[in-house]
Amino acid sequence: MQHLKGKVAVITGGNSGIGKATARLFTEEGAQVIITGRRQDVVERAAQDIGPSAIGFVGDTADLEDHCRLAETVKSRFGGLDIYMANAGVINLTSSAEVTPEDYDRHFAINTRGVFFGVQTMAPLIRDGGNIIVTSSLAATKILPDHTVYAGSKAATAAFAKNWAIEFKSRRIRVNILSPGPVETEILAKLGVSEAERPAFEDHMASLIPAGRLGRPEELARAALFLASDAGSFVNGIELHVDGGMTLV
Ligand SMILES: NC(=O)c1ccc[n+]([C@@H]2O[C@H](COP(=O)([O-])OP(=O)(O)OC[C@H]3O[C@@H](n4cnc5c(N)ncnc54)[C@H](OP(=O)(O)O)[C@@H]3O)[C@@H](O)[C@H]2O)c1
Repeated sequence: MQHLKGKVAVITGGNSGIGKATARLFTEEGAQVIITGRRQDVVERAAQDIGPSAIGFVGDTADLEDHCRLAETVKSRFGGLDIYMANAGVINLTSSAEVTPEDYDRHFAINTRGVFFGVQTMAPLIRDGGNIIVTSSLAATKILPDHTVYAGSKAATAAFAKNWAIEFKSRRIRVNILSPGPVETEILAKLGVSEAERPAFEDHMASLIPAGRLGRPEELARAALFLASDAGSFVNGIELHVDGGMTLV
């Protein structure tokens, strides 16, 4: 049985990692999925790789006009949508003393403002009974070195999501937070950790996780499917930690 048969989903940052694995699983479960990202070649390749039920959309979540273009595309092609996953995100590990105003603004423009205005723009198109998933991070609740700005940008979105769960209740739109721990995706190459230091960094992360390893994008995708489908029909306003138990230690 396909759990998302006939559903339409939009996944920002669906061209890579957690978003792409989720897009793939959602299409296998019967959904039409629109994936977004800024790099046209990566977006196109990802859509092709996922298959005919995936459509690529090149857009920047930091650009409010791109949210409007995306909404127009969804409206004209599908009339509306059922699942919106605000997943695009960036991170640069830096101690607070070294954070530049530009780096601070980039985190909040993409991770926070992009999520807020993405939901504001898409919400009118989400069909009653649909749902929203916000990809936050373990860093929003657990103190990790050099994560301060990233943690703040993600903690804000978790607060947004809980408020939205109440704001959208009359339309039966559920809003939940997917909170990954360290997961093997391309983001690990964008943290600001040098190539040479990466293996030691990842080994150290793995040693902090009770599961003894980093997560895989498919494991986050299965959690997103739970939240998006009727399997999670009575789940609303939660923060689902998918982190191999790292929150506990
Ligand atoms: N992997 C982890 O360890 C981990 C842990 C906790 C939370 N997360 C969160 O999980 C989410 C997905 O991360 P991931 O690990 O799958 O990373 P990823 O492989 O780097 O994928 C994220 C994608 O988001 C897209 N993106 C970034 N900024 C964007 C923007 N302004 N507009 C549109 N798309 C944008 C990027 O595509 P373009 O460059 O083409 O735009 C990128 O391919 C992020 O929000 C991240 O913070 C990840």
